[in-house]
Parts: sequence; structure tokens; C-alpha cells
Amino acid sequence: MKKLVSLSIATVALMGMMSTAQADIKTYRTACAACHMTGAANAPKLGDKAAWAPRIKTGMDALVNSAIKGKGAMPPKGGRMNLTDDQIKSTVAYMVDASK
Ligand code: HEC
Repeated sequence: MKKLVSLSIATVALMGMMSTAQADIKTYRTACAACHMTGAANAPKLGDKAAWAPRIKTGMDALVNSAIKGKGAMPPKGGRMNLTDDQIKSTVAYMVDASK
């Protein structure tokens, strides 16, 4: 019984992780890819290690802060004010992970 319980907890945790990752990819595609896929307006491209390395060095907090408040040609939250700060934070984490 105990085994079954911990197994189902593990399954739920795994499913939770998967759906978070999928949600981040979806947010990225709908709200961020227009600039971050093409490098429009000099946006650092997803997967471009050289473009991201100096930014990653400034730390996650600074990156999340830029994404929430806007930076240079990037409007606050990429122009999607309906996104929550948490959604931005986890989408930035997805972009950073895909770019180092
Ligand atoms: C209108 C185009 C545009 C959209 C849409 C956009 N960005 Fe950006 N983003 C940029 C540009 C341009 C920069 C470079 C800003 C600079 O350094 O001057 C940037 C930089 C960043 C950085 C690095 C910030 C730093 O401090 O170096 C992060 C993180 C980021 N964007 C996340 C996001 C996320 C997350 C989204 C979607 C919610 C998004 N961006 C949508 C144009 C965009």
C-alpha cells in the first residue's frame, strides 16, 4: 500500500513537471518567439549560447526582472500583460535552459 501511494505521488509530480514545461513552451511560442526565435530587434535567440552567456551571468533575478519590466526594444512581459510574473519567471527559466 505504501509503495502504491508513493508511486502515485511520483507520477503526479512527474506529470506536474511535464505540464509546466509544456506550458512554458506554449507561452514562449505565443508571447516570446516572435522576437526570440528570429533575433528581431537584436533579441537574444533561443539556443544562441554566445548571446545568452553574458546575460545569464547577471543572474536569473535580473533576467526575470528585465522580462517583467521590459528592456531596450522588449516591452514589459513581451507585450503580454495578461501573463503572470510566475509565468514569465518559468518561461525565462525555459529559455535560459535551452540556451546554455
Ligand atoms: C518585441 C520583441 C520581444 C518580445 C515579444 C520578447 N522579447 Fe525578450 N528581448 C527582446 C530584446 C530586443 C531583448 C534585448 C534587450 C536588450 O538587452 O536591450 C530581449 C531580452 C530578453 C531577456 C534578457 C534580458 C536581460 O536582462 O538581458 C529575457 C530574459 C527575455 N528577453 C525574455 C523574454 C520573454 C520571457 C518573453 C515572452 C514573455 C520575451 N522576452 C518577449 C525582445 C523581445
